[in-house]
Amino acid sequence: MKKRKKLYEGKAKIIYSTDDKNLVIQHFKDDATAFNNQKRATIEGKGILNNRISEHILSSLSEIGINNHLIKRLNMREQLVELVSIIPIEFVIRNIATGSLTKRLGIEEGTILDYPLIEYCLKNDKLGDPIISREHILNFKWLNTIELDLINEQCLRINDFLQGIFRGVGIKLVDFKVEFGKTKSNDKIILADEISPDTCRLWDHQTDKKLDKDRFRKNLGNVVESYQEIARRLGILHEQSNIRPIKFPKPIAVKIKKNK
Ligand code: TMP
Ligand code: ASP
Repeated sequence: MKKRKKLYEGKAKIIYSTDDKNLVIQHFKDDATAFNNQKRATIEGKGILNNRISEHILSSLSEIGINNHLIKRLNMREQLVELVSIIPIEFVIRNIATGSLTKRLGIEEGTILDYPLIEYCLKNDKLGDPIISREHILNFKWLNTIELDLINEQCLRINDFLQGIFRGVGIKLVDFKVEFGKTKSNDKIILADEISPDTCRLWDHQTDKKLDKDRFRKNLGNVVESYQEIARRLGILHEQSNIRPIKFPKPIAVKIKKNK
């Protein structure tokens, strides 16, 4: 598939057109930003890891029937994806209180939520991605009730599935953000963008050590090493890397009794 012209450049990714009007190439950069672009850095190797991790997650999600834009990974930094018009809403799903939830509402850091909490933010950098309600989404016709209910249901299924995947490798899925789009070909709503340590909060199960973009946001260091750790635990980091791994405690070994 030939890469044609640059259609859009975001903070962490670039979208290129292809020969097929319904398909585009999503390129993962090493750039990282936080706090609405106020903090910036280039983290060598981050794009490669996010490309691989997001491919793994999105292809696993398609296996359980969560339709998404991923067609296939093309190379270290690029994926072929379906062209969508992105719905201008960030869907945040939370299992444990941290980040903006604790700041906004004074909920104690680390509070385990009784059930997953879905929040909506308007995707608008100029306004600082403000939190919005279901009523805003319906009133301003960003989505209708059927579409919003379908996306909410998908968010909960994605959360369930990802919690399981991560729990199995000793990681707590604290929260994450997803985006959906409407396909150019038939206006169908599908999951788009990426799911990676840039868009999730992932804590080591035993130590609560942060293994995600909060390491960059909070200047904790070892950003790329943490992303590598996620990839390694997911069993998708096979290539040799010259970045020295950091030592994290091993996940608890579970003894499985064999039926005789
Ligand atoms: P928050 O606690 O800062 O609102 O973040 C909630 C989740 O959304 C967290 O997993 C990080 C993710 N997120 C993004 O992917 N992009 C963003 O621009 C922001 C602010 C958060
Ligand atoms: N996407 C945010 C930014 O605008 C960063 C974040 O993930 O916190 O820079």
